[in-house]
Amino acid sequence: MNKAQEMTKTDTSVIRPNLLSVDDAKAMTLPRMTEIFTKHLNPGQLHFMKLLGFHKIKIERAEGMYYYDQNGRAILDFFGGFGSLAFGHNHPRIVEARKKFQDERRQEIAIAFMSQYASALAHNLAACSPGDLDMVFLGSSGSEAMEAAIKVAERAAGPKKPKIVYAENSFHGKTKGVLSITDGSLYRGEFKLVENTIRVPFGDIDAIENAFKSDSEIGVIVLETIQGGGGIIQASNEYWRKLRALCDQYGVLWVADEVQCGFGRSGKFYAFEHAGVIPDVTALAKSLGGGKAAVGAMIARREVYMKAYGTPKTAMIHAMATFGGIGEACVTSIEAINILYDENLIENSATTGDYLLYKLEELKAKHPGMIKDVRGKGLMVGLEFHDFSKTVPVVLRPVLAMLDDKLKGSLPGFIGSHLLRDHGVLVAFTEYNRNVVRLEPPLICGREHVDEFITALDEVLSRGIVRIVKDFVKAQVK
Ligand SMILES: Cc1ncc(COP(=O)(O)O)c(C=O)c1O
Repeated sequence: MNKAQEMTKTDTSVIRPNLLSVDDAKAMTLPRMTEIFTKHLNPGQLHFMKLLGFHKIKIERAEGMYYYDQNGRAILDFFGGFGSLAFGHNHPRIVEARKKFQDERRQEIAIAFMSQYASALAHNLAACSPGDLDMVFLGSSGSEAMEAAIKVAERAAGPKKPKIVYAENSFHGKTKGVLSITDGSLYRGEFKLVENTIRVPFGDIDAIENAFKSDSEIGVIVLETIQGGGGIIQASNEYWRKLRALCDQYGVLWVADEVQCGFGRSGKFYAFEHAGVIPDVTALAKSLGGGKAAVGAMIARREVYMKAYGTPKTAMIHAMATFGGIGEACVTSIEAINILYDENLIENSATTGDYLLYKLEELKAKHPGMIKDVRGKGLMVGLEFHDFSKTVPVVLRPVLAMLDDKLKGSLPGFIGSHLLRDHGVLVAFTEYNRNVVRLEPPLICGREHVDEFITALDEVLSRGIVRIVKDFVKAQVK
């Protein structure tokens, strides 16, 4: 028996596993989704979905400002995927650009050859960025963009300045590098993280100055320009200007995380533009993918980038990964950036955001016992409720005792579930402060959508705290 005959003797039969098709996925019922979610995705997360009533909803379609569920009910999206849906759901121009790219059978993975699409996207990002922020790294998530950002800064700062400063209540992602500068004990858990990090309070310029003064090994400072996960926390323009000056004085590189607050959300392309200053490195993701693709980008000042990776010897140290600059994702982002300007969405974010804040201030005046604070910039708005864990009416204490710990002192959970159930309105929580609802609707949001949201919220708040909590508990035990 020769070699070729021997090879044909090996068993090449492959048993097809029990697979579901795309049509099976489309037709899947809610109980089956729940079963698979529990079995193969995240059983613990389902617990929270159940608490909030999300488990009863199967989204069949999404367009513009709305999701549509299995019963054809429209759900107004004031959550916006934590800022990922600037263009709303399935913007027709983005859908069209993607279809065209597919029909033309274009190169998708851009590792071997250069890509005209990755090039155009890099050009657009440099064009949108002030100063010499013009060297681009493309990836597929905010975490990846932020990993690239801290790596380029660390290399440019050099081995004599290895320490990284970050802020209290920061969120920069969950991969190990950026987890090390993410200030959430839940996320950090007991992981072995990157050493040499120094935490300072957010918005306190003296703390930064003291840190820089006392430790010449500090080479990098990483800050969200507006803290999202921390509960929509802003610092003054003065703070950012002083930060720029201190970084220049002490030779520290400033990395601005704009993954959530960037891309027009604050009413400027980058939130740091409000202060008229330019960081050394920044990062975008979320809406950069047009709500259809997974795209993240790091943008660095040329000088910083060249120091880190500017020679043939260093060029591949952090070159794009397999899916960096992938064709259809780049097309999506190129179209998205064009739409951002063609449809004046940055301006709309500023003006509709102002209107939303104004209407929320009115509600605060009407419901002072519930709303504690309203804040934000553009369509990145925080609505903070009073913490009632200690002031809860006596009559509610026994029912509250039955609830999940996370919900006990937090009105947003109750209010969010009522908004969804009774008004078809979706809002989101905040990781570190459960009393804050984060409002990040698509940047296509109009005044009519703000009015729809405000009317719904007003109705729920007008029920009063006792009814809100009792209704919620009743829905849980049903
Ligand atoms: C400010 C900020 N940085 C980084 C990230 C991480 O992005 P991703 O979830 O795409 O990895 C997020 C995500 O919410 C974020 O808000």
